[in-house]
Amino acid sequence: MNRTFARTGAILASAALGITFAVSGAALAQTKTAKKAPAGKDAAAAARGKDVFQQKCSTCHYDSSDAKKIGPGLKGIGKRGTFTVNNNKVTDETLKAWIENGDSLMPPFKDVIEDNQIKDVIAYVKTL
Ligand code: HEC
Repeated sequence: MNRTFARTGAILASAALGITFAVSGAALAQTKTAKKAPAGKDAAAAARGKDVFQQKCSTCHYDSSDAKKIGPGLKGIGKRGTFTVNNNKVTDETLKAWIENGDSLMPPFKDVIEDNQIKDVIAYVKTL
């Protein structure tokens, strides 16, 4: 009786171990996938930037078209790599300066949204 009990115990214990290994294996696999995607951070910023865009920019700009609303449609600005308004190169810096300061036709956003929201919206605009 005692021996049977001990054996059952051993079998149960090794079954439990097997499950533990299987679970930690899955966890390891997950960590690897997360590390494999270096775009993850940019993608998260762009996703937050999309919200900012919808709240602060979409009244004047389309993001799904290059047609003019009040300002130029921003679809394709990232791929094209140049501003239509002044032919400047599209970089994080030029976008930041533009969004912060605006121009005679676009209001400045420096005091309207946070620095990190400007970064996020830049990440989003570059994907358009
Ligand atoms: C009140 C309307 C208005 C809002 C709100 C607005 N813009 Fe603009 N934006 C304009 C206008 C108008 C222009 C064109 C300026 C010109 O022709 O001189 C422009 C131009 C731009 C350009 C240059 C586009 C190109 O093709 O050269 C970018 C980039 C831009 N805006 C980004 C943004 C972002 C990002 C936001 C939100 C944070 C925003 N704008 C909010 C009106 C607006």
